[in-house]
Amino acid sequence: MMLRGWMLALALMGAATAVAAQDLRSPSADQYVPRLGDIMSAAQLRHQKLWLAGKAQNWELAAFELRQLKASLVEAALLYSGIPVSNVTTLEPSLQATSDAIAAKDGRKLAKALGDLTEGCNACHRSMGRSFVVMKVPSDPQPFANQLFPPQAKP
Ligand code: HEC
Repeated sequence: MMLRGWMLALALMGAATAVAAQDLRSPSADQYVPRLGDIMSAAQLRHQKLWLAGKAQNWELAAFELRQLKASLVEAALLYSGIPVSNVTTLEPSLQATSDAIAAKDGRKLAKALGDLTEGCNACHRSMGRSFVVMKVPSDPQPFANQLFPPQAKP
């Protein structure tokens, strides 16, 4: 568990971000374990807000949403040992590309990176028997515009 934790923290967050997140822990955080679906629902919101912030060229907000999104993914893998760590660490290149695009204030690169990241979301869903949860890069600001609701063809 410790090793898992460190691998993930190092791979995805960097020490500084991990410390900052800890400062915001509520006193009951040690007892409360969010359900995986709730962590994922938060990830869904951040995924869409990240896109919206990028569209609006609010890079500070985009960077914040990306940090929040990463934190959700790390939390999912730390709390739910049934999730293969590799399913999360393989997202690292697209998370890094997203971060680089935000730093460069480059909307086109952000769109590409977000597309790759979204494919990573779906790859994990498929590998965990959740192929019916299909994320997409949102096309408009409507709630849940980053999810496909019609049944998808079986692979
Ligand atoms: C490491 C694996 C993994 C990754 C990566 C992952 N998910 Fe998930 N996700 C799951 C699993 C497992 C479930 C099903 C949870 C359950 O059955 O309670 C899920 C469920 C969901 C749901 C459905 C929640 C609900 O209650 O309706 C959404 C939305 C979601 N994920 C969004 C995302 C987004 C967005 C990303 C990428 C930014 C992502 N997920 C990345 C494993 C993953």
